[in-house]
Amino acid sequence: MPTRQEAIDLILDHFDHPRNFGAMPNPDSVASGRNPVCGDVVTVCLRITGGRIETASFEGRGCTISQSAASITVEQIIGKSLADLMRMDGDSLAAEMGADVMGSRHRCATLALNALKFAATQYRNGTAIRSQADAPVMDF
Ligand code: FES
Repeated sequence: MPTRQEAIDLILDHFDHPRNFGAMPNPDSVASGRNPVCGDVVTVCLRITGGRIETASFEGRGCTISQSAASITVEQIIGKSLADLMRMDGDSLAAEMGADVMGSRHRCATLALNALKFAATQYRNGTAIRSQADAPVMDF
């Protein structure tokens, strides 16, 4: 588990320099998630090959935790199988963002993860949305 300062530094670095940020051409599945309490939004795109996440990206707006967690989560899932993604919970985020954040801001931190799981589920069900413009915003 990172120290409090290490977690803060990582969160601020991902917020200031988000990884894998931006729209993806021709994604295999897209999902948008919103925290209905505050309005933060994260839209995620997946490209999937043989049941594995070849690449992923996100766009969004909102609090430092929701946006840095999106960057961290997308980084974590690239190269993983869809089954691995579906098994993920807040633990993998806590390992990087610290237990304090996960305890007090769990909903902010898991917004992107929930959107990614929704995109993966849609893909598995054959109902994936493949355009950011067409993705309905789901409340998580
Ligand atoms: Fe909105 Fe964090 S305050 S998700």
